[in-house]
Amino acid sequence: MHLVLLGAPGAGKGTQVERLKGKLGLVHIAAGDLLRKAVKERTLLGQKAENFIKQGILVSDDIVLELLEDKIREEKKGFILDGFPRNLFQAKKLDEILDGQNRRLDLVINLEVKESTIIERLSRRLVCSSCGRIYNKENLGDFSSTCRVCGASFFQRDDDNPEAIRERIKTYLKHTHPLINYYRKKKILYNIEGEQSPEEITQKILNFLGRKEKI
Ligand code: AP5
Ligand code: MG
Repeated sequence: MHLVLLGAPGAGKGTQVERLKGKLGLVHIAAGDLLRKAVKERTLLGQKAENFIKQGILVSDDIVLELLEDKIREEKKGFILDGFPRNLFQAKKLDEILDGQNRRLDLVINLEVKESTIIERLSRRLVCSSCGRIYNKENLGDFSSTCRVCGASFFQRDDDNPEAIRERIKTYLKHTHPLINYYRKKKILYNIEGEQSPEEITQKILNFLGRKEKI
């Protein structure tokens, strides 16, 4: 199965993929995580991408494709893409890669959230510095100042500040939002209300996939 998770910054893409990938036996390919890893490791690609990410604007297509294309081509178990494609050029490139291998996208899941939700969620997000698990300040509880899974400390992403968040929303509306129509026309779009709890969203996606499988 080949899935794409679409949605604005903070819509819950990473949260949902973490919950779904084990249940569906799929590999998580996250453009943003791969870019941040390249930045952290100071690779040439990472150095080129760093300022774009900090400002909340798109990294150039060639950098993103250099990082992702082989991973997509070589993933044989099936994948969930998160943060890619992010514009029409990338969407067409993804079709081309999959067509060339006689594969196709099965479903694009679009998480819909309000702008006020995005701002609220991103300003309280924390990420584990070791395993990358996503938290928010409220659900940590009183006693945990370290990751429940691996015990490492948290960090706040460089682009989770009000200025970068505003820019990321603008960038999303201009470049990524048009993909909703692109996939709707292909009849592979599934819209889901992203304001519900993470558990409800996961369950609805799994129910939908179950129904789709039987058609
Ligand atoms: P990327 O890392 O993809 O960031 P993003 O799209 O802005 O999305 P986020 O990761 O911020 O949000 P999310 O939807 O994953 O939400 P999360 O689950 O964490 O990209 C970063 C940058 O890299 C881009 O700006 C760009 O510069 C560059 N880039 C990446 N891909 C690129 C590409 N293809 N081309 C060019 N440039 C690219 O949840 C957020 C918070 O909400 C968490 O605290 C979570 O606990 C909470 N939460 C989640 N779901 C719920 C819920 N249902 N209810 C309540 N709280 C919830
Ligand atoms: Mg994410």
